[in-house]
Amino acid sequence: MPLYPEYIIQEVIDKNDIVDVVSKQVRLKKSGANYMGLCPFHNEKTPSFSVSPTKGIFHCFGCGVGGSVINFVMKTENLTFTEAVKELAARANIVLPQINGYDSNKEKEIRDQKEILFNINEKAASFYFSYLSKDEGKVAVEYFKERKLDGKCAKLFYLGYSPNEKRKLFDYLVGEGFSESDILKAGLITKHENGDYYDKFRGRVMFPIFNVNDKIIGFGARRIDENVMPKYLNSPETLVYNKSKNLYALNLAKKSKKDFVILVEGYMDVISLMRYGFYNVVASLGTALTTEQAKLLKRYFNEVVISYDSDEAGQTAARRAIGILRDAEIKASVIKVDNAKDTDEFIKKYGSDRFNLILTKRKGDIAYLMDVLGEKYNLKNNDEKVLYVNELIPYLQKVTNSVELDVLVSEISAKTSISSQAIYLQIGKTKAKLTDDFSPKATVPHFGASTKDKLSRTQEMLLSLLINEPKLLVKAESILEDDLFDDELLKKLFTTLKEKKDHDIDASYLMTAFEEEDVAKITKIISIDTRCEDTLKAVKDYVLSIKEEKRRIEIDKLVKQGDINALNEIFKNNQKGEIRL
Ligand code: CTP
Ligand code: MN
Repeated sequence: MPLYPEYIIQEVIDKNDIVDVVSKQVRLKKSGANYMGLCPFHNEKTPSFSVSPTKGIFHCFGCGVGGSVINFVMKTENLTFTEAVKELAARANIVLPQINGYDSNKEKEIRDQKEILFNINEKAASFYFSYLSKDEGKVAVEYFKERKLDGKCAKLFYLGYSPNEKRKLFDYLVGEGFSESDILKAGLITKHENGDYYDKFRGRVMFPIFNVNDKIIGFGARRIDENVMPKYLNSPETLVYNKSKNLYALNLAKKSKKDFVILVEGYMDVISLMRYGFYNVVASLGTALTTEQAKLLKRYFNEVVISYDSDEAGQTAARRAIGILRDAEIKASVIKVDNAKDTDEFIKKYGSDRFNLILTKRKGDIAYLMDVLGEKYNLKNNDEKVLYVNELIPYLQKVTNSVELDVLVSEISAKTSISSQAIYLQIGKTKAKLTDDFSPKATVPHFGASTKDKLSRTQEMLLSLLINEPKLLVKAESILEDDLFDDELLKKLFTTLKEKKDHDIDASYLMTAFEEEDVAKITKIISIDTRCEDTLKAVKDYVLSIKEEKRRIEIDKLVKQGDINALNEIFKNNQKGEIRL
């Protein structure tokens, strides 16, 4: 629930022009009463992102996100509702009241603390970077050179060197005015038993890790001398660094505006690919891919191309990643960097043309698994056939598109001469065993589905009309019956409208009256273009059409059930579906 009263939200929305705020992130072009641009929340080439200055909302017809200026700031800056309100209030010099029952001081404290950690990290990165031009840092420059990285790379990734001394960084940061405890919280130093502070990273090449908003959240530090252990030393989890929620170089990759992203294992793979002109690359941060990371990638890309190391560990990790990406319902494919240990080595050995070639010939995730397992098992042997199919089953269970599933099952069936039915049975059976909830996805289109779609579209159009011209609620009161809507949200929206009657329903009101997840659906409804000459007639038409659609659905149902009596009854009562105003 929002914590600020409606009038405050209203003021925040009023004083932060949505077109101004969005324009900072999206290039907008005027189009009629609205502005259009490329959606910042998904990849697209033709604009479907619309901003309505009069309604104070944005909405993307492509990916469905939408809301007020507050939601926009929440989404683009990764803030909570309260944080976004505070941010926008500050921009517009609005003094926010203390909120009862909520420890707003605590939240401010956390935000300030985060800001301090970002600053410390930024200073530390520039400190490490500066060592690349000092004598002490020559070893690092040599190392980078050996690995074919130049000064441009160093700048782009803000690479650096941590001097091999007890507490050079610590002293520097203290000199910059940071407290011991804050430097400790940033994870850059360790405290010895005797109370002494030591720099955590010493004599290593440094890779700053940025979040999507270009803030430095932590560091990866690689050894230069191959005898030193461990190979990488990384920042510990801090208030700003969570290795399972961030991805290396996503801040750069998202700017590539590519449809797909290449997922590699290491920092070095990312840097090499970018050096060869492939900017749509990210790596996880020393852990297996997580669900949070998959969701993060889904925000910026339509497909993830896995390009892991060619060793056993890399290929096992690829299989795990496939499962995670399937669960997140993002398209995945796999490439193999044959004859190289990793992507870094591959691109250096074979160049960008060859890499492009394997990219264009990439296999879908499950096709890749079929290949790998096809090599592992002898498909002429019956026992091995069973093992082959069984290893595929858990992945097949994650396929949500029935057409895709059908294609895959047919292929597996052809390969093994096991019947499709048996494979389908196995997909269902093991799933039931695993989750106790076997509900096969409908493989045939639902009877009357298109009618239902049409119905809800008409209902949404009617609601949009009523929101945009609340006077119609009074004018058409007699025909606006409660049972026009059956969806819970639409029903609630309709009752809310009737309660507010001729008051304007705007973004700020919706903000306070509806839950976050509903706001996007409602802005979609508000965004429907309902301009017409005779709006009252339009209301009449919509109501009529809703009634007709409902009747058609009812008839379809009865026909299916073969309920002749009920059918006769309907036709008798509904001979003229006419509505009077
Ligand atoms: N990693 C880690 N700690 C280690 C080893 C690896 O955190 N001890 C993480 C790092 O993020 C590293 C990634 O796992 O980038 C992949 O490991 P690896 O392939 O060993 O490193 P590369 O970055 O490829 O480095 P190099 O090419 O020098 O081997
Ligand atoms: Mn590697």
